[in-house]
Amino acid sequence: MKRFLWVLLTVSALGITAYFVPPYLVGGTTVPGLDRSIPGYYTSLVIHALPAGTALAIGPFQFVTRLRTRFPRAHRIAGRVYLIAVVVASLAATWSAAVTRSGFALQVAFFALIAAWLYTAAQAYRTIRRRDVKAHRVWMIRNYTLTFAAVTLRIYQLILLQVWPLMPDLEYAEIYTSSAWLSLAGNIAVAEYFIVHRVLAPRTRRPATV
Ligand code: HEM
Repeated sequence: MKRFLWVLLTVSALGITAYFVPPYLVGGTTVPGLDRSIPGYYTSLVIHALPAGTALAIGPFQFVTRLRTRFPRAHRIAGRVYLIAVVVASLAATWSAAVTRSGFALQVAFFALIAAWLYTAAQAYRTIRRRDVKAHRVWMIRNYTLTFAAVTLRIYQLILLQVWPLMPDLEYAEIYTSSAWLSLAGNIAVAEYFIVHRVLAPRTRRPATV
């Protein structure tokens, strides 16, 4: 079950990166509805999407215990690349979020995500510098959960698009905004559940049978 969930997470992370990021690296001409009249918008999306996709793709492998213990140096290097990617991607996203024409409620969701993404990355770095491995693990789970919002946002978007024909007054921006808020709240809830029940809960042994 654990392996199945990891494979599902990895395939969806790699799939979203491979599908959504390359169009921005080749001029963005194939991206539907990309508003090039907004100053710096396209450039900020390129500077955001490349490192964000890199972080999304690296993340799952950092959680594999066997890889971490067999190749600790690779884990450290990939971890630094991941954290730098998160910082660059979130700084670029501040511009995309500030100028997007998708509405105020979406901008608030994105700024909340940016603040949480940077804060959890800083905590993950601070705790591992202090050699506090358990706390580092918790903060990395929180941080990757936010990175993974890029995947769940698009899943919610797909689901809500199915509801659209039933509610003709609904605007596309409302679907987009609802998906962003759902991915933020839903991912945080799942991460905290996992942390409390799997990472922080004391391991209980089954009592020996007589
Ligand atoms: C979790 C932190 C993240 C934040 C705060 C964030 C923020 C943003 C913002 C503000 C935009 C512009 C949206 C608009 O103008 O309507 C955007 C677009 C985009 N982001 Fe992110 N993002 C995050 C994670 C990621 C990740 C991990 C990826 C990796 C695939 C990614 C890939 C993209 C792409 C490709 C776009 C262009 C829009 C599209 O094609 O859907 N983002 N992001």
